[in-house]
Amino acid sequence: MGRLEERLSRLDRKIDAARKRIKGVEDRQVATEVFDRATLLTLYDLANRGVIDLLYGVIKTGKEANVLKGYGKGGEPLAVKIHLVGTRNYRAMLKYIDGDYRFKGVKRSTRSVVYTWVKKEFKNMERALEAGVKVPMPIAYKNNVLVMEFIGKGEEPAPMLKHVFPEEPDRLYRKVLGYMRALYCRAGLVHADLSEYNILMRDGTPYIIDLSQAVVIEHPQAQEFLRADVRNMANYFRSYLEVDEGEMLRYITDCRRVKRWSM
Ligand SMILES: Nc1ncnc2c1ncn2[C@@H]1O[C@H](COP(=O)(O)OP(=O)(O)OP(=O)(O)O)[C@@H](O)[C@H]1O
Ligand SMILES: [Mg+2]
Repeated sequence: MGRLEERLSRLDRKIDAARKRIKGVEDRQVATEVFDRATLLTLYDLANRGVIDLLYGVIKTGKEANVLKGYGKGGEPLAVKIHLVGTRNYRAMLKYIDGDYRFKGVKRSTRSVVYTWVKKEFKNMERALEAGVKVPMPIAYKNNVLVMEFIGKGEEPAPMLKHVFPEEPDRLYRKVLGYMRALYCRAGLVHADLSEYNILMRDGTPYIIDLSQAVVIEHPQAQEFLRADVRNMANYFRSYLEVDEGEMLRYITDCRRVKRWSM
């Protein structure tokens, strides 16, 4: 065997090993169709590092990202978000990367933009967590794959806020507003895609998800993104309470009594 052939066959064995960690014939088929070789190798690496032990089902499939269920080495449930590289509109993503001082000089290829996107989500989740905002705990990331805490009960992922009837809308409203303020004042971030679709509800507690597009408040469009987030949440809560967007905005950006957490 030539050296190249040898390397390729070693790669094939790795890819096979990654596939074997995906449980069930159907899931394996989905994985083979959906994930390219690079992604399977990334999963292989995460398995080798002891981050993922097994992938066993799909939480959500999409055009741009798939979220799978997994188990860690200690048997803890995981959510594994895998971004598809081929189908991403990277210009749309650059709008949230350019202007964020943490990610200067990103290469203009779809692949490096997607990888930056994943790193950005991981960093944003760390910041949010430090600021006291409930988000899934970020565990690891590599290339286009992000591994995080699974928010759910047993095997069941927690439902989106969109799909539950809030028992105490008033409490929930204050909680979400508090999160938005902590995100803004303490983490120095604006979510930039906040809505009832990106909040999961577990035991009456809201968890903010999908932080890949979140930007630092110094981003030139941060205020515009914040107003859109406020509008979305106001529209949601308006079915239950009287809300005022201007008041919400003032509350969120009033950082006098909130200490900024600096990285
Ligand atoms: N940690 C988690 N635990 C349980 N379920 C999750 C978790 N993260 C995501 N999900 C589920 O997967 C769905 C998609 O996740 P998310 O919103 O992060 O991806 P997306 O909308 O495809 O993201 P993007 O806009 O970055 O492409 C969520 O609506 C939720 O149902
Ligand atoms: Mg989402």
